[in-house]
Amino acid sequence: MTTHALFPTLIHTATLPETGWKAFNLRLLRECQQLAVDDVSGQRWSAKHYPGGYSSYNSVCRMHLLSPTFAELERKLNRHVAKYARDLGLDLEGRQLSMTDCWVNIMPPKVVHSMHLHPLSTISGTYYVQTPKGCSGLKFEDPRLDRFMATPPRRSDCAPEKKPWFIVPASAGKLVLFESWLRHEVTPNTTKKDRISISFNYNWF
Ligand code: NI
Repeated sequence: MTTHALFPTLIHTATLPETGWKAFNLRLLRECQQLAVDDVSGQRWSAKHYPGGYSSYNSVCRMHLLSPTFAELERKLNRHVAKYARDLGLDLEGRQLSMTDCWVNIMPPKVVHSMHLHPLSTISGTYYVQTPKGCSGLKFEDPRLDRFMATPPRRSDCAPEKKPWFIVPASAGKLVLFESWLRHEVTPNTTKKDRISISFNYNWF
C-alpha cells in the first residue's frame, strides 16, 4: 500500500551563511530605523494601514535600488531564490527572476500584520533584522482551507505539516521564501521590543 503526499507547498528557510552577518545585520537595522524616522509619507500610510507600526510598502518599496546595504542583501538573496525556484520545478522560459520590491516593516509591541498574500509577484519572502526573544513567527495558511467545509478537524497531535496553519519562527539573520500566492500573517508582537523585518518580492515578468 502506498500513500502519496501530493501537491506540496514548499517553504524555504535559510541563514545567511557568510561570516560577518551580524555586522551586516546591524547596518540593515540602522537603515531600517532611520527610514522609519525620515519617511513621512510611509508614516502617514502606516497610521492608516499598519496601525501602531511602520511599513515602507507604499512609500519606499524599492530599497534595493536606493541603498547599497539593501543591494548587498539582494545579492545574497538571489542565490536562495534561484535554488528555491529550482526546487519548485518552475520553468521560467529563459526569463530571470528578479527583485521588484523590497521594503521595511517595524512592528512595535502589540502590532499585528493580518492575513494577506503578495499580488502581482512570483516569489516573496522576508529577512529578519531584529527579533526579540519570543516574538511572533510567520504564520502560513493551508491554501486549500476554503475547500475544507465538511472535512473533520485535524487531531491536535497530527504532524505539523498536516495542520491548517504552520508557523515558521522569526530569527535575526534568517530568511523565509514562499510562493507569493500563499496567504500568511504575523500575529501580535507580545514582546516589549520592536520586531523588524525586510520583505521582498521577486518577479519573472
Ligand atoms: Ni507578507
